[in-house]
Amino acid sequence: MEEEFSNHSDNRTFEDVLSVHMSRRNVLIGGFATAAVAFFGGSAAAAASPKAQIAEATRRVAKSPKIGFTSIPLQAGPMPTIAPEYTYSVLAPWREKLDGSGTSFAYSGFTAAQQEQSVGIGHDGMWYFGDEQSGLLCLNHEYGTNQHVMGKANATSLDDVKLSQAAHGVSVIQIEKAGKGWKIAKSAKNRRIHVNTIAKMSGPAADSALLQNTAGNPVQGTLNNCANGYTPWGTYLTCEENFNGYFGANSATWKASAEQARYGYSANGFGYGWHKFDARFDLSNPAYANEGNRFGWVVEIDPNKPKSAPVKRTALGRVKHEGAEVVEGKNGRIVVYMGDDERFDYVYKFVSRDNWKKMIAEGVSPLDEGTLYVAKFNDDGTGDWLELSPKNPVLSSWTIDKILVHARLAADAVGATKMDRPEWISSSKDGDMYVTLTNNTQRGTTGKASTNKSNPRAVNTWGHIIKFRDWNEHLGRSFVWEIFALADSVADAGGQMFGSPDGIWVDDDDRVFVQTDGEQPGKNNDQMLVANARTREFKRLFTGVAGCEVTGVAVTPSRKTMFVNLQHPGDGDPKVTNFPEPFSGASGSVPRDSIIVITRKNGGIVGT
Ligand code: FEO
Ligand code: CA
Ligand code: CA
Repeated sequence: MEEEFSNHSDNRTFEDVLSVHMSRRNVLIGGFATAAVAFFGGSAAAAASPKAQIAEATRRVAKSPKIGFTSIPLQAGPMPTIAPEYTYSVLAPWREKLDGSGTSFAYSGFTAAQQEQSVGIGHDGMWYFGDEQSGLLCLNHEYGTNQHVMGKANATSLDDVKLSQAAHGVSVIQIEKAGKGWKIAKSAKNRRIHVNTIAKMSGPAADSALLQNTAGNPVQGTLNNCANGYTPWGTYLTCEENFNGYFGANSATWKASAEQARYGYSANGFGYGWHKFDARFDLSNPAYANEGNRFGWVVEIDPNKPKSAPVKRTALGRVKHEGAEVVEGKNGRIVVYMGDDERFDYVYKFVSRDNWKKMIAEGVSPLDEGTLYVAKFNDDGTGDWLELSPKNPVLSSWTIDKILVHARLAADAVGATKMDRPEWISSSKDGDMYVTLTNNTQRGTTGKASTNKSNPRAVNTWGHIIKFRDWNEHLGRSFVWEIFALADSVADAGGQMFGSPDGIWVDDDDRVFVQTDGEQPGKNNDQMLVANARTREFKRLFTGVAGCEVTGVAVTPSRKTMFVNLQHPGDGDPKVTNFPEPFSGASGSVPRDSIIVITRKNGGIVGT
């Protein structure tokens, strides 16, 4: 059962908590001991006495993960670099055929039909379901600009739009070890899911009028698939992020409703031009008035059932979903932590109604029945999960489908904390949750929310990472939190190490892998770092190419092979990079989003 925690009256001030964390962090290495004093009050104070704190610190130092590789410098060139103890190979570049032949469709003359049979663009979140030799990889294709995909800024026909739509979505590919690298294998399970794939709605809002169009068109497609999650029952979760940008209006008199404005719809969108040739994406076409509400969901895919329709899980709410980190909470209940990536948006969690195995035995998806919450980060180092349902008095006049379809507006109403762009969330083995707040240059500017303790930087150019822990094994209504790292305060001999943290993944030994997407110190390339969760020491393992972001992380069970992605290398411009081909410049090949397969030369666990 959920338990309330309401008494924060005896809290120490947050400054006190934070200063203890920061100044003693070499002693209290990354623990929540001091916050716990504030949080649990007197009863826990004894347990967190100085002696107990030192014992805890000693235990944690003893478990400190080994991160032995040589940290490499930042760089700004057209090819990646990797620590000298490591090596990488390239897998599944955009346009490689799914037939296992290892060949790719040509860039010139590339068609929608070809794209539907080959790896999409915009490689992002992914997960690997397999062993050390072979398995199924689910790979998100977040986006590719028209210029990158078809060599021109504007779609000029429905065929162009269909090509762009086919480049988005998800690939499911059987991969296998081959020589020194990995390859796509021939498999009946290889499939592309894209913007025109038949999909299904499920959960409390599935039959809502807000999801119906008078056109009567079926639910189709997934797009802007950003980060991801995976479930203990073997399925993949893909998350729809900036879906609004693919819609536009053909009528000059179209105006966004309040709900549409909150999700960022505009007459021109991001310039994809789909609405000019595909009525589904025309905001001013009354027959498709609710098409936009069909995007912004966490979508479940069963990689082992190639004919199954992707299922949009409405119980998890409709926001610009970054990722969906699934953990098993107390009594086997499924808990999904999710960020909504926009300036001043929120962190969410969903808790399943019951033990997940029991629900599946009843024939109910654990992702269809449960409760959605949004986070309030208090300045004293505690936090509250605010329920998003009609049971919350603030939302008593809302129906559950309206709450879920317009989750952002419901979260506004209950008073969630406006964050600096919540991106990925990852759980450590012992339940510490890490969330990246990538940046927010509007924080504290005129007319915008000012700084608070959880978003402490005005004009937050570089971003930060927060660590939090639920107080009741993920079922609590409260949590404790602390700043894990302010990006502008993490330095090595070369100076500031990173900015714009986005992807994050914590391995079972408490190595924190941090991937970046955005401005880096010295205008250098995006990168992947590895931090020690105890000492908060960072090392740089990998740097991408100019114009790319580094995103997505999956591993084999031994963690001796890691897959990460280079997304939009050179922003698609061959003058910047021809990756994965060696650099030859403008006359060389158009760069291709690719998976990077990372191994340690001595066969060790990646990150050691
Ligand atoms: Fe798709 Fe927020 O990164
Ligand atoms: Ca991201
Ligand atoms: Ca991003």
